[in-house]
Amino acid sequence: MLSTYNPAQPCAPPTALSRSSARPHSAAPLRGASGAAALAVPLAVRQVRRKARNLRATSSELRELAKANLLNNYGERQMIFREGQGHILKDNDGESFLDFTAGIAVNCLGHSDEGWAQTVAEQASKLCHTSNLYLNEEQIRLGQRLVELSFADKAFFCNSGTEANEAAIKFARKYHFSRGEARSKFLAFENAFHGRTMGALALTWKEGYKKPFEPLMPSAGFIKYNDMDSLDAIDEASELAFRSANRFQRLKHNSSTGFVEPIQGEGGVVPGSKEFLLALRKRCDETGTLLIFDEVQCGLGRSGKLFAYELSGVLPDLMTLAKPLAGGLPIGAVLLTEAVASCISPGDHGSTFAGAPLVCAAARYVLDQVSNPDFLENVRTTGSHLKAGLEKICDPQGLQVRGTGLLIGVVFPTAEQCGAVQRAAAAEKLLVLTAGAGNILRIAPALTVTQADVDEALERLSKALESVLVEAEAQAA
Ligand SMILES: Cc1ncc(COP(=O)(O)O)c(C=O)c1O
Repeated sequence: MLSTYNPAQPCAPPTALSRSSARPHSAAPLRGASGAAALAVPLAVRQVRRKARNLRATSSELRELAKANLLNNYGERQMIFREGQGHILKDNDGESFLDFTAGIAVNCLGHSDEGWAQTVAEQASKLCHTSNLYLNEEQIRLGQRLVELSFADKAFFCNSGTEANEAAIKFARKYHFSRGEARSKFLAFENAFHGRTMGALALTWKEGYKKPFEPLMPSAGFIKYNDMDSLDAIDEASELAFRSANRFQRLKHNSSTGFVEPIQGEGGVVPGSKEFLLALRKRCDETGTLLIFDEVQCGLGRSGKLFAYELSGVLPDLMTLAKPLAGGLPIGAVLLTEAVASCISPGDHGSTFAGAPLVCAAARYVLDQVSNPDFLENVRTTGSHLKAGLEKICDPQGLQVRGTGLLIGVVFPTAEQCGAVQRAAAAEKLLVLTAGAGNILRIAPALTVTQADVDEALERLSKALESVLVEAEAQAA
């Protein structure tokens, strides 16, 4: 049966104290006692702000507040969620949605998992943050567990996926620097997504994400994913990139580091073939190139294995993790072999918030759950059930289904069609994602999803697909 929203366990509504402390300066504007700042704000907005501080605001009031106060970097957002339980999200108007996005592959245990919430509450009442001036046991135990469970010898913590990749870039640079090697070239793959900061962005494929922010980290190049021939061109590709950056040096093996997602997520849910990943490892070994796996999205159980690299058996030199690691709290991690870790010295890198007791306690809880063989077996069987169900719906329409575990994509001919299906699914109270050039419907539910939840999602998606296809046929007629 579909797990339902449990009104017996609502998320606590904001108290009068939390409402007023959310904007402590709102009662007394900081800018100009005469209210110069307030005068600049339209009366209607000020009325809405006042109302929102005192009462539960309506959805349209909240949207208006968002428009007035939040940076418009995410575009217009209509849906506002207030509570979540398991795979169900409840919006501001009390409507329930089946969440097959899991906060973009983050909420691996679903929303408000009881054990997770208890762990976080207990740790928050004990110790939240101390900085990395000091050790804390939660960070130590989390590092120990990640090392035990993976290829790695050492762990480093940060706060997001892009930060993890940024740290990995620095660690790779330091590795070559400390060996006296003039190698700074990074190679990533076409359609890759590694993040939005200047280094990770340079290794992200989509031109639109990068163009306004150039110059990014120099010496980044791209080669084709899942293409054996492109691997032979690793040196060639680095030379070309160096040439175009006007920094060409004729070094025999110039590329320092290869960045790869074992399963591309944002790029369109494309699993790397075992053959390709084995050949990539071989090529990196031949050329002394470090191999970094970005498992920010595909790692920690989503592929049906704890780490996606287990599917191919290919081991990286470094690996980045983030999204699901703390079950919804911000965290990132880099796992390193001793050969790389031994090149990092005190002061080379750091972060104030990283590895704090609160987030590490949450991550230890998540890791305990997702590394359990029964949990992973459930991901595999539910993932196969989801994929088979999607194929049943999509095959007759000529739509390809691809992916592994609980990261599945449906390939549409156009982004318009895919977007229409995503909207129609939302109308059926099912939330799904898109990926690639907008033409891939990406389905990434919590890893705790049941086959009954999957069946319900498939039924809603089938209706959504039908409504879009019927409309398209009507328009064509
Ligand atoms: C593979 C991969 N790497 C890196 C990132 C960036 O992570 P974050 O958004 O936490 O910075 C993402 C985010 O979607 C991702 O999918």
